[in-house]
Amino acid sequence: MNDFKNSDLISIDQLSNKNIFEIFKATDQIRKIKDPKKLLNILKGKIITLLFYEPSSRTFSSFASASKRLGAQTLEYQNPTQTSSYVKGESLEDSIQVFSTYSDAIIMRHFQNGAAKIAADYTQKPVINAGDGSGEHPTQALLDLYTIYKKCKSLKGLTGLITGDLLYGRTVHSLLKGFSIFPNNTIYLLSPKELKLPKEIFQTVSNKIKLIEIYSDQEIPENCNFWYWTRVQKERFSDLKEYEKIKTSFILTKKLLQKKGNKNLIIMHPLPKVGEIELEIDKDPRAIYLRDQIQNGMYVRMALLKMILST
Ligand code: NCD
Repeated sequence: MNDFKNSDLISIDQLSNKNIFEIFKATDQIRKIKDPKKLLNILKGKIITLLFYEPSSRTFSSFASASKRLGAQTLEYQNPTQTSSYVKGESLEDSIQVFSTYSDAIIMRHFQNGAAKIAADYTQKPVINAGDGSGEHPTQALLDLYTIYKKCKSLKGLTGLITGDLLYGRTVHSLLKGFSIFPNNTIYLLSPKELKLPKEIFQTVSNKIKLIEIYSDQEIPENCNFWYWTRVQKERFSDLKEYEKIKTSFILTKKLLQKKGNKNLIIMHPLPKVGEIELEIDKDPRAIYLRDQIQNGMYVRMALLKMILST
């Protein structure tokens, strides 16, 4: 029996150092299984609901692919705001009770902060938070940490840079909380002044991580182990003029990489990227967002589903 059996994953805060390494170990094990038939037996007979109230490419399909590779079947709701009883005014609480009757677990993305916790309170079945508003995105943090661990061989004593929308970016919030489990890390935070990391998160994680806020790419140190670039979250702005003003405040250009990058640097992005990374960077071997990072996402999610659901 592992610590995850039948549990929810709502926030990365639930996890200990030991838990994270258990997930990494399970991920390494699952990616070694080459026989699809063996994989198909792991969750044979299970049904997993994917309930995505916000648009998604990677998270939705990597969870769908992870479930299917393990032999589970999926009940897929992309866009329930247009295709489910949500249109008729059904509450989240009611929908969750319905879907949990039909399935063994619910993976949910929602536009409202805290929605995953509400869902979990209304069902005995495991709920996995696939992003709740500008709150958290714990499985993204797990795949990001796994990717950094694989490349840097440690999650201690690293220097990193996180850039972009630190206010609304849920992947950033979860990643920083994840890093705060490990000692001696220094993270530079580069964002427009309007999109600084929320104070509460800054205060909590700065007990464990040395956080340094910077406001110009000229202040990026040259010894970073990773750069984690993010897009400005257009959908969180009530005033689109405000978004337009700051959407391209920090662009990762070839010139910047030449000036501030080093040969061992890894460049990450949770995706989608919408112009904040110069196209040419995609070909640089240090840019792993369209390679290792998304591939690891599927394996980490397979490991997690196996730990939560297999009998
Ligand atoms: C992110 C998200 O949805 O929070 N995407 C993802 O899941 N990989 C990042 C984003 O939308 O900017």
